[in-house]
Amino acid sequence: MTTQSLLERRFNVLGRHSPLFYEKPLQLVRGEGVWVHDIDGKRYLDAYNNVPHVGHCHPRVVEALCRQAGILNSHTRYLDETVVNYAEQLLSTFHPSLNRVFLTCTGSESNELALRIARETTGHMGVISTDFAYHGNTAAVSQISSVFTPASKRGPFVRYVPVMDPHRQRKPAEFYIGQLQEAIDDFARSGVKLAAVLFCTAFSSEGLPDVPAGYFPGVAAAVHAAGGLVIADEVQAGFGRFGSHMWGHDRHGMVPDLVTMGKPMGNGHPLAGVVTTAALMEAFTSQNMYFNTFGGNEVSAAVGHAVLNVLRDEQLLENALTVGSHVLRGMRGFRHECIGDVRGQGMFFAVEIVSADGKPDAAKTKRIVNSMREHGVLISRIGPHDNILKIRPPMVFTKDNADVLLSTLDTVLSEVS
Ligand SMILES: Cc1ncc(COP(=O)(O)O)c(C=O)c1O
Repeated sequence: MTTQSLLERRFNVLGRHSPLFYEKPLQLVRGEGVWVHDIDGKRYLDAYNNVPHVGHCHPRVVEALCRQAGILNSHTRYLDETVVNYAEQLLSTFHPSLNRVFLTCTGSESNELALRIARETTGHMGVISTDFAYHGNTAAVSQISSVFTPASKRGPFVRYVPVMDPHRQRKPAEFYIGQLQEAIDDFARSGVKLAAVLFCTAFSSEGLPDVPAGYFPGVAAAVHAAGGLVIADEVQAGFGRFGSHMWGHDRHGMVPDLVTMGKPMGNGHPLAGVVTTAALMEAFTSQNMYFNTFGGNEVSAAVGHAVLNVLRDEQLLENALTVGSHVLRGMRGFRHECIGDVRGQGMFFAVEIVSADGKPDAAKTKRIVNSMREHGVLISRIGPHDNILKIRPPMVFTKDNADVLLSTLDTVLSEVS
Protein backbone atom coordinates (compact mmCIF):
# COMPACT_ATOMS: atom_id res chain seq x y z
CA MET A 1 0.00 0.00 0.00
CA THR A 2 1.63 3.27 -1.11
CA THR A 3 1.09 6.51 0.79
CA GLN A 4 -0.59 7.93 -2.34
CA SER A 5 -3.15 5.15 -2.59
CA LEU A 6 -3.87 5.35 1.16
CA LEU A 7 -4.40 9.09 0.71
CA GLU A 8 -6.96 8.44 -2.04
CA ARG A 9 -8.75 5.87 0.14
CA ARG A 10 -8.76 8.38 3.00
CA PHE A 11 -10.28 11.08 0.76
CA ASN A 12 -12.97 8.60 -0.25
CA VAL A 13 -14.03 7.91 3.34
CA LEU A 14 -12.98 10.95 5.44
CA GLY A 15 -13.36 13.58 2.71
CA ARG A 16 -10.85 16.01 1.22
CA HIS A 17 -11.22 18.63 3.96
CA SER A 18 -10.29 16.46 6.92
CA PRO A 19 -7.05 18.24 7.98
CA LEU A 20 -3.69 16.64 7.21
CA PHE A 21 -0.27 18.03 8.08
CA TYR A 22 2.40 18.69 5.42
CA GLU A 23 2.44 19.09 1.64
CA LYS A 24 3.47 15.43 1.50
CA PRO A 25 1.31 13.77 4.21
CA LEU A 26 3.21 11.75 6.75
CA GLN A 27 2.23 8.13 7.38
CA LEU A 28 3.39 7.26 10.87
CA VAL A 29 3.42 3.67 12.03
CA ARG A 30 5.18 3.70 15.40
CA GLY A 31 6.21 6.01 18.22
CA GLU A 32 8.49 5.81 21.23
CA GLY A 33 9.45 8.66 23.58
CA VAL A 34 10.22 11.69 21.41
CA TRP A 35 10.61 9.64 18.22
CA VAL A 36 8.10 8.60 15.59
CA HIS A 37 8.73 6.34 12.57
CA ASP A 38 7.10 6.49 9.13
CA ILE A 39 6.06 3.66 6.83
CA ASP A 40 9.46 3.77 5.04
CA GLY A 41 11.38 3.31 8.28
CA LYS A 42 12.48 6.95 8.53
CA ARG A 43 12.72 8.30 12.08
CA TYR A 44 11.50 11.79 13.05
CA LEU A 45 12.18 13.82 16.16
CA ASP A 46 8.80 14.93 17.49
CA ALA A 47 9.14 18.58 18.50
CA TYR A 48 5.47 19.32 17.99
CA ASN A 49 3.11 16.96 19.78
CA ASN A 50 1.78 17.76 23.24
CA VAL A 51 -0.73 14.91 23.38
CA PRO A 52 2.00 12.29 24.03
CA HIS A 53 2.93 14.54 26.95
CA VAL A 54 5.22 12.09 28.78
CA GLY A 55 6.43 10.60 25.48
CA HIS A 56 4.89 8.36 22.85
CA CYS A 57 3.83 4.98 24.25
CA HIS A 58 5.35 5.59 27.68
CA PRO A 59 5.70 2.06 29.18
CA ARG A 60 4.09 3.02 32.52
CA VAL A 61 1.08 4.56 30.78
CA VAL A 62 0.73 1.60 28.42
CA GLU A 63 1.01 -0.81 31.35
CA ALA A 64 -1.63 1.05 33.39
CA LEU A 65 -3.98 1.13 30.42
CA CYS A 66 -3.59 -2.58 29.61
CA ARG A 67 -3.79 -3.67 33.24
CA GLN A 68 -7.03 -1.79 33.94
CA ALA A 69 -8.54 -2.79 30.56
CA GLY A 70 -8.02 -6.40 31.65
CA ILE A 71 -9.75 -5.83 35.02
CA LEU A 72 -12.80 -3.61 34.46
CA ASN A 73 -13.99 -0.75 32.30
CA SER A 74 -17.49 0.58 32.87
CA HIS A 75 -18.48 4.17 33.71
CA THR A 76 -18.69 6.59 36.61
CA ARG A 77 -22.16 5.51 37.79
CA TYR A 78 -20.51 2.72 39.77
CA LEU A 79 -18.37 3.36 42.80
CA ASP A 80 -14.72 2.81 41.95
CA GLU A 81 -11.54 3.52 43.89
CA THR A 82 -9.36 4.02 40.79
CA VAL A 83 -11.50 6.97 39.71
CA VAL A 84 -11.63 8.58 43.17
CA ASN A 85 -7.87 8.10 43.68
CA TYR A 86 -7.20 9.81 40.37
CA ALA A 87 -9.57 12.71 41.02
CA GLU A 88 -7.94 13.29 44.43
CA GLN A 89 -4.44 13.33 42.98
CA LEU A 90 -5.43 15.60 40.11
CA LEU A 91 -7.18 18.09 42.43
CA SER A 92 -4.19 18.16 44.77
CA THR A 93 -2.32 20.05 42.01
CA PHE A 94 -4.79 22.98 42.18
CA HIS A 95 -5.44 25.94 44.47
CA PRO A 96 -7.47 24.60 47.45
CA SER A 97 -10.63 26.41 46.30
CA LEU A 98 -10.61 24.40 43.04
CA ASN A 99 -11.58 21.11 44.61
CA ARG A 100 -14.18 19.47 42.36
CA VAL A 101 -13.79 17.81 38.95
CA PHE A 102 -16.05 16.69 36.11
CA LEU A 103 -14.36 14.10 33.90
CA THR A 104 -15.03 14.23 30.16
CA CYS A 105 -13.41 12.90 26.97
CA THR A 106 -12.30 15.98 25.01
CA GLY A 107 -11.26 19.58 25.47
CA SER A 108 -14.30 20.65 23.42
CA GLU A 109 -16.67 18.85 25.79
CA SER A 110 -14.91 20.43 28.74
CA ASN A 111 -15.27 23.95 27.34
CA GLU A 112 -18.89 23.23 26.42
CA LEU A 113 -19.59 22.13 30.00
CA ALA A 114 -17.74 25.12 31.46
CA LEU A 115 -19.85 27.47 29.32
CA ARG A 116 -23.02 25.71 30.45
CA ILE A 117 -21.99 26.05 34.10
CA ALA A 118 -21.10 29.72 33.66
CA ARG A 119 -24.34 30.58 31.85
CA GLU A 120 -26.51 28.53 34.18
CA THR A 121 -25.02 29.79 37.44
CA THR A 122 -24.73 33.47 36.50
CA GLY A 123 -27.97 33.58 34.56
CA HIS A 124 -26.07 35.59 31.92
CA MET A 125 -25.29 34.72 28.28
CA GLY A 126 -22.33 36.81 27.06
CA VAL A 127 -18.93 35.18 26.48
CA ILE A 128 -15.66 36.88 25.59
CA SER A 129 -12.65 35.17 23.99
CA THR A 130 -9.79 36.43 21.81
CA ASP A 131 -10.14 37.12 18.10
CA PHE A 132 -7.90 34.22 17.06
CA ALA A 133 -8.84 31.53 19.57
CA TYR A 134 -9.53 27.83 19.17
CA HIS A 135 -11.44 26.20 22.02
CA GLY A 136 -13.12 23.26 20.30
CA ASN A 137 -15.74 21.92 17.95
CA THR A 138 -19.17 21.80 19.65
CA ALA A 139 -21.90 24.21 18.53
CA ALA A 140 -21.52 26.62 21.47
CA VAL A 141 -17.73 26.41 21.65
CA SER A 142 -17.19 26.88 17.92
CA GLN A 143 -19.06 30.20 18.18
CA ILE A 144 -16.28 31.51 20.41
CA SER A 145 -13.49 29.79 18.44
CA SER A 146 -13.03 32.71 16.12
CA VAL A 147 -10.11 31.21 14.23
CA PHE A 148 -12.37 28.86 12.22
CA THR A 149 -15.78 30.53 12.62
CA PRO A 150 -16.75 33.45 10.38
CA ALA A 151 -18.12 36.54 12.14
CA SER A 152 -21.56 35.93 10.61
CA LYS A 153 -21.88 32.63 12.48
CA ARG A 154 -20.82 33.82 15.95
CA GLY A 155 -24.22 35.02 17.17
CA PRO A 156 -25.18 37.86 19.55
CA PHE A 157 -23.63 36.45 22.74
CA VAL A 158 -19.98 36.52 21.72
CA ARG A 159 -17.41 39.33 21.77
CA TYR A 160 -13.67 39.28 21.12
CA VAL A 161 -10.59 41.04 22.38
CA PRO A 162 -7.66 41.50 19.97
CA VAL A 163 -4.71 39.12 20.10
CA MET A 164 -1.66 40.58 21.87
CA ASP A 165 1.20 41.19 19.47
CA PRO A 166 4.26 41.78 21.68
CA HIS A 167 6.68 41.68 18.76
CA ARG A 168 5.10 44.72 17.10
CA GLN A 169 3.32 46.46 19.93
CA ARG A 170 4.42 45.93 23.52
CA LYS A 171 1.82 47.44 25.88
CA PRO A 172 1.27 47.28 29.64
CA ALA A 173 -1.39 45.03 31.20
CA GLU A 174 -3.77 47.99 31.71
CA PHE A 175 -3.99 48.53 27.96
CA TYR A 176 -5.21 44.98 27.32
CA ILE A 177 -7.50 44.99 30.36
CA GLY A 178 -9.00 48.18 28.87
CA GLN A 179 -9.73 46.26 25.65
CA LEU A 180 -11.52 43.61 27.69
CA GLN A 181 -13.53 46.29 29.48
CA GLU A 182 -14.57 47.70 26.09
CA ALA A 183 -15.97 44.29 25.13
CA ILE A 184 -17.85 44.05 28.45
CA ASP A 185 -19.23 47.57 27.92
CA ASP A 186 -20.24 46.70 24.37
CA PHE A 187 -22.26 43.76 25.68
CA ALA A 188 -23.91 46.04 28.24
CA ARG A 189 -24.91 48.51 25.52
CA SER A 190 -26.76 45.71 23.71
CA GLY A 191 -28.39 44.45 26.91
CA VAL A 192 -26.22 41.31 27.20
CA LYS A 193 -24.80 40.41 30.60
CA LEU A 194 -21.42 38.75 30.92
CA ALA A 195 -21.40 35.03 31.76
CA ALA A 196 -17.70 34.31 31.23
CA VAL A 197 -14.37 35.08 29.71
CA LEU A 198 -12.76 32.01 28.19
CA PHE A 199 -9.03 32.33 27.50
CA CYS A 200 -6.28 29.83 26.79
CA THR A 201 -3.76 30.73 29.51
CA ALA A 202 -0.92 30.54 26.96
CA PHE A 203 -2.87 32.09 24.05
CA SER A 204 -1.48 29.14 22.10
CA SER A 205 -3.37 29.44 18.80
CA GLU A 206 -2.94 33.19 19.04
CA GLY A 207 0.87 32.86 18.80
CA LEU A 208 2.12 32.43 22.37
CA PRO A 209 2.52 36.16 23.17
CA ASP A 210 4.46 37.27 26.23
CA VAL A 211 1.63 38.28 28.57
CA PRO A 212 2.39 41.36 30.72
CA ALA A 213 2.48 40.84 34.50
CA GLY A 214 -0.84 41.59 36.15
CA TYR A 215 -2.93 40.92 33.06
CA PHE A 216 -4.74 37.76 34.16
CA PRO A 217 -5.49 38.98 37.72
CA GLY A 218 -6.79 42.22 36.12
CA VAL A 219 -8.99 40.18 33.79
CA ALA A 220 -10.42 38.24 36.74
CA ALA A 221 -11.20 41.48 38.61
CA ALA A 222 -12.97 43.05 35.59
CA VAL A 223 -14.94 39.89 34.85
CA HIS A 224 -16.06 39.41 38.45
CA ALA A 225 -17.05 43.07 38.69
CA ALA A 226 -19.32 42.48 35.68
CA GLY A 227 -20.90 39.43 37.34
CA GLY A 228 -19.15 36.87 35.11
CA LEU A 229 -16.82 33.92 35.66
CA VAL A 230 -13.30 33.22 34.44
CA ILE A 231 -12.73 30.01 32.50
CA ALA A 232 -9.05 29.10 32.09
CA ASP A 233 -8.51 26.81 29.11
CA GLU A 234 -5.49 24.67 30.08
CA VAL A 235 -5.86 22.22 27.19
CA GLN A 236 -2.49 23.32 25.78
CA ALA A 237 -0.87 25.16 28.70
CA GLY A 238 -1.61 22.70 31.48
CA PHE A 239 0.13 19.70 33.04
CA GLY A 240 3.42 21.55 33.50
CA ARG A 241 4.07 22.50 29.90
CA PHE A 242 5.72 25.75 31.03
CA GLY A 243 7.86 24.02 33.64
CA SER A 244 7.58 26.65 36.37
CA HIS A 245 4.00 25.69 37.33
CA MET A 246 1.59 22.84 36.80
CA TRP A 247 -1.09 25.18 35.41
CA GLY A 248 -0.90 28.24 33.17
CA HIS A 249 -3.17 30.27 35.46
CA ASP A 250 -0.78 29.66 38.40
CA ARG A 251 2.02 31.00 36.25
CA HIS A 252 0.00 34.20 35.81
CA GLY A 253 -0.99 34.49 39.49
CA MET A 254 -4.72 34.02 38.92
CA VAL A 255 -7.29 31.67 40.46
CA PRO A 256 -10.01 31.03 37.84
CA ASP A 257 -13.56 29.87 38.54
CA LEU A 258 -13.41 27.02 36.06
CA VAL A 259 -10.43 25.25 34.51
CA THR A 260 -10.73 23.11 31.41
CA MET A 261 -8.16 20.53 30.36
CA GLY A 262 -7.63 17.71 27.89
CA LYS A 263 -4.98 16.74 25.31
CA PRO A 264 -1.97 15.75 27.52
CA MET A 265 -4.15 14.48 30.36
CA GLY A 266 -4.36 10.92 29.00
CA ASN A 267 -1.17 10.95 26.89
CA GLY A 268 -3.31 10.19 23.81
CA HIS A 269 -6.13 8.36 25.56
CA PRO A 270 -9.35 10.48 25.38
CA LEU A 271 -9.43 11.98 28.84
CA ALA A 272 -10.37 15.58 29.69
CA GLY A 273 -12.06 17.49 32.48
CA VAL A 274 -13.39 20.62 34.15
CA VAL A 275 -12.11 21.61 37.59
CA THR A 276 -14.13 24.09 39.61
CA THR A 277 -15.21 25.10 43.11
CA ALA A 278 -17.56 23.08 45.32
CA ALA A 279 -20.06 25.96 45.21
CA LEU A 280 -20.21 26.12 41.41
CA MET A 281 -20.47 22.35 41.07
CA GLU A 282 -23.26 22.28 43.60
CA ALA A 283 -25.13 25.17 41.98
CA PHE A 284 -24.95 23.50 38.57
CA THR A 285 -25.50 19.83 39.41
CA SER A 286 -28.33 20.45 41.85
CA GLN A 287 -30.29 21.72 38.86
CA ASN A 288 -28.74 19.68 36.01
CA MET A 289 -27.73 16.03 35.99
CA TYR A 290 -24.32 15.78 34.32
CA PHE A 291 -23.16 12.36 33.15
CA ASN A 292 -20.60 11.41 30.52
CA THR A 293 -20.62 7.75 29.43
CA PHE A 294 -16.92 7.43 28.63
CA GLY A 295 -15.56 10.38 30.62
CA GLY A 296 -13.44 9.26 33.57
CA ASN A 297 -14.07 5.54 33.25
CA GLU A 298 -11.73 3.17 35.10
CA VAL A 299 -9.28 2.79 32.22
CA SER A 300 -9.15 6.56 31.64
CA ALA A 301 -8.59 7.15 35.36
CA ALA A 302 -5.76 4.60 35.47
CA VAL A 303 -4.14 6.23 32.45
CA GLY A 304 -4.52 9.75 33.86
CA HIS A 305 -3.05 8.62 37.15
CA ALA A 306 -0.05 7.08 35.40
CA VAL A 307 0.55 10.36 33.52
CA LEU A 308 0.60 12.33 36.80
CA ASN A 309 2.95 9.79 38.38
CA VAL A 310 5.36 9.89 35.45
CA LEU A 311 5.37 13.70 35.49
CA ARG A 312 6.31 13.59 39.19
CA ASP A 313 8.73 10.62 39.18
CA GLU A 314 10.65 11.71 36.07
CA GLN A 315 10.67 15.35 37.25
CA LEU A 316 9.39 16.48 33.91
CA LEU A 317 8.51 20.03 34.95
CA GLU A 318 12.11 20.56 36.02
CA ASN A 319 13.21 18.96 32.76
CA ALA A 320 11.00 21.35 30.81
CA LEU A 321 12.65 24.34 32.50
CA THR A 322 16.21 23.12 31.99
CA VAL A 323 15.89 21.84 28.44
CA GLY A 324 13.55 24.69 27.53
CA SER A 325 16.12 27.31 28.59
CA HIS A 326 18.71 25.50 26.48
CA VAL A 327 16.42 25.61 23.42
CA LEU A 328 15.59 29.30 23.94
CA ARG A 329 19.26 30.22 24.37
CA GLY A 330 20.12 28.32 21.20
CA MET A 331 17.38 29.90 19.11
CA ARG A 332 18.12 33.39 20.42
CA GLY A 333 21.70 32.91 19.29
CA PHE A 334 20.64 32.32 15.65
CA ARG A 335 21.55 35.07 13.20
CA HIS A 336 18.99 34.62 10.47
CA GLU A 337 17.34 37.70 9.02
CA CYS A 338 13.97 35.98 8.77
CA ILE A 339 13.66 35.61 12.56
CA GLY A 340 11.51 38.41 13.95
CA ASP A 341 11.16 37.16 17.51
CA VAL A 342 11.82 34.10 19.67
CA ARG A 343 9.73 33.53 22.79
CA GLY A 344 8.46 30.79 25.06
CA GLN A 345 9.09 29.01 28.30
CA GLY A 346 9.43 25.40 29.42
CA MET A 347 8.55 23.11 26.52
CA PHE A 348 6.65 25.65 24.39
CA PHE A 349 8.33 27.98 21.89
CA ALA A 350 7.27 30.42 19.19
CA VAL A 351 9.54 31.77 16.45
CA GLU A 352 8.17 34.61 14.31
CA ILE A 353 9.22 34.44 10.67
CA VAL A 354 9.31 37.78 8.85
CA SER A 355 10.31 39.13 5.45
CA ALA A 356 13.08 41.70 4.90
CA ASP A 357 10.68 44.57 5.72
CA GLY A 358 9.65 42.94 9.02
CA LYS A 359 6.21 41.79 7.78
CA PRO A 360 4.87 38.31 8.68
CA ASP A 361 6.06 35.77 6.08
CA ALA A 362 3.55 32.92 5.98
CA ALA A 363 4.95 31.37 2.79
CA LYS A 364 8.45 31.09 4.24
CA THR A 365 7.06 29.72 7.51
CA LYS A 366 5.28 26.97 5.60
CA ARG A 367 8.48 26.15 3.67
CA ILE A 368 10.41 25.90 6.95
CA VAL A 369 7.88 23.51 8.50
CA ASN A 370 7.91 21.27 5.42
CA SER A 371 11.66 21.38 5.14
CA MET A 372 12.10 20.51 8.83
CA ARG A 373 10.02 17.42 8.19
CA GLU A 374 12.28 16.48 5.23
CA HIS A 375 15.22 16.86 7.63
CA GLY A 376 13.51 14.58 10.16
CA VAL A 377 12.09 17.05 12.74
CA LEU A 378 8.37 17.68 13.26
CA ILE A 379 7.17 21.21 14.12
CA SER A 380 4.14 23.27 13.03
CA ARG A 381 2.93 26.85 12.62
CA ILE A 382 0.38 29.13 14.28
CA GLY A 383 -0.77 32.72 14.72
CA PRO A 384 -3.16 35.16 13.03
CA HIS A 385 -0.68 35.62 10.17
CA ASP A 386 0.35 31.95 10.03
CA ASN A 387 3.98 33.01 10.39
CA ILE A 388 4.93 31.62 13.78
CA LEU A 389 6.80 28.35 14.15
CA LYS A 390 5.13 26.31 16.88
CA ILE A 391 7.59 24.11 18.74
CA ARG A 392 6.06 22.10 21.59
CA PRO A 393 7.76 18.75 22.12
CA PRO A 394 6.81 15.98 24.55
CA MET A 395 8.01 16.77 28.08
CA VAL A 396 10.68 14.04 27.96
CA PHE A 397 12.67 16.02 25.36
CA THR A 398 16.35 15.90 26.37
CA LYS A 399 19.26 18.29 25.85
CA ASP A 400 20.54 15.97 23.10
CA ASN A 401 17.13 16.08 21.40
CA ALA A 402 17.23 19.87 21.76
CA ASP A 403 20.61 19.99 20.01
CA VAL A 404 19.19 18.00 17.08
CA LEU A 405 16.26 20.43 16.90
CA LEU A 406 18.57 23.47 17.07
CA SER A 407 21.07 22.30 14.47
CA THR A 408 18.30 21.20 12.07
CA LEU A 409 16.45 24.49 12.45
CA ASP A 410 19.68 26.41 11.92
CA THR A 411 20.33 24.47 8.69
CA VAL A 412 16.78 24.90 7.40
CA LEU A 413 16.73 28.64 8.21
CA SER A 414 19.99 29.05 6.27
CA GLU A 415 18.49 27.18 3.35
CA VAL A 416 15.32 29.27 3.17
CA SER A 417 17.07 32.59 3.69
C1 LIG B 1 -6.71 25.59 23.68
C2 LIG B 1 -7.61 24.47 23.20
N1 LIG B 1 -8.80 24.29 23.79
C3 LIG B 1 -9.63 23.29 23.41
C4 LIG B 1 -9.31 22.43 22.38
C5 LIG B 1 -10.26 21.36 21.98
O1 LIG B 1 -9.83 20.11 22.42
P1 LIG B 1 -10.31 18.77 21.73
O2 LIG B 1 -9.73 18.72 20.36
O3 LIG B 1 -9.80 17.69 22.64
O4 LIG B 1 -11.80 18.79 21.70
C6 LIG B 1 -8.08 22.59 21.74
C7 LIG B 1 -7.69 21.68 20.64
O5 LIG B 1 -6.82 21.92 19.85
C8 LIG B 1 -7.21 23.63 22.16
O6 LIG B 1 -6.01 23.81 21.59
